[in-house]
Amino acid sequence: MDKLTVRDVDVAGKRVFVRVDFNVPLEDGKVTDDSRIRAAIPTIHYLLSHGARVILASHLGRPDGKVQDGLRLRPVAERLSQILGRNVPVTGDALGIGSVDAVKRLRNGELLLLENLRFHAEEEKNDPAFAQQLADYAELYVNDAFGTAHRAHASTVGVAKLLPAYAGFLMERELAMLSRLMENPARPFAAIVGGAKVSGKLKVLDELLKKVDVLVLGGGMANTFLLAQGKTVGKSLAEHDMVEEARRVLALAEKKKVRVLLPVDVVVAKEVTRGTEYKTIPAEKIPASWHIVDVGRATLDLMEEALADAKTVFWNGPLGVFEIPSFAHGTRSIARYLAARADTGATVVVGGGDSVAAIQQQGLAERFTHISTGGGASLELLEGRELPGVTVLQDRPILTPAEKGAATKRANAAAKAKAEAEGRSPATAGKAAR
Ligand code: 3PG
Repeated sequence: MDKLTVRDVDVAGKRVFVRVDFNVPLEDGKVTDDSRIRAAIPTIHYLLSHGARVILASHLGRPDGKVQDGLRLRPVAERLSQILGRNVPVTGDALGIGSVDAVKRLRNGELLLLENLRFHAEEEKNDPAFAQQLADYAELYVNDAFGTAHRAHASTVGVAKLLPAYAGFLMERELAMLSRLMENPARPFAAIVGGAKVSGKLKVLDELLKKVDVLVLGGGMANTFLLAQGKTVGKSLAEHDMVEEARRVLALAEKKKVRVLLPVDVVVAKEVTRGTEYKTIPAEKIPASWHIVDVGRATLDLMEEALADAKTVFWNGPLGVFEIPSFAHGTRSIARYLAARADTGATVVVGGGDSVAAIQQQGLAERFTHISTGGGASLELLEGRELPGVTVLQDRPILTPAEKGAATKRANAAAKAKAEAEGRSPATAGKAAR
């Protein structure tokens, strides 16, 4: 999965179509979490500072091929403008004469953002004519939208087939961090998997069981596992048709000698709403008319004990009904514990919306080894599936040792010539090339 990146091509003066994932949460016309925008900045900055003419393209939400004013990219462009400290114009439509002209007028080191691609139904259909119209804007294609790399759409696959296609820095980092996790994790390796449903996570659980030493289960999906253990879960969210699968997963874990941790105490609530009555009770005694909404303190203590010596941790999915503050305690608490583990040198990688939100809200993001910008994409990658938006990017050629030596010589000579032209010492130029 070694792909050519923006570093491998001369972008000066070229029009570059950059697929980014600016599918960010909005409230009252403002971006409430800009992490996906900030994650794309290194690529955007690199392209602009190397004289490219940058055409950014993204989807926002699921407008199903219709224009929806609430899903226009203006708030995103405003946030991006603040971060970059320069105005980022956004076109009125991804296609049409307005965009064509705006692209033509771009000068070296300038950028624009096309309007929401999914206002055109052809985007999600990977329509060839639509892809061609987008490709006509540019000479090069860059994909930095890791979060959308599991979708075979026009802007992630179609255009990439029509232009020389490179990975951006975010894409490169995501692939490196997540592949390292599955290929060569430092042990003990623990995974924490939460979220609502087992059904969407069966494949990743199977894959993780081949690799991990400890598997911690939480959130709504843990209820289905409690059922599989013969417990009752009252009115809690659970997938009764998945109980057999959950039993199979538990048996597989036993066979592979993976320690599995399920909640031993839980917070239960009369209703899954704010302001309702709730209490913490043992997981053995769930009253018939109550809902499990979070893990209890005893479970958190057990989890922390199981994770205490882990050298690698992967976390996906909340441990409770995270959107309701009273039931977010388990998720927020495990986020703080993992940040502390990362401080001591453990590799802690997180993927998935609510786990990431719990980290962001508490200002812990900087302490983690890697926070993936892709929920669905990171899970598909960990399942061992090919991501269509990655497959289509150009592979890095495998060089023989002689070819590698010649390439290094060429890079050093180019760096030396550039340094001399700029009046710098060639001695430092060699280092820059390495
Ligand atoms: C995401 O948020 O997971 C990506 O932006 C992909 O969005 P989608 O699930 O609507 O394709």
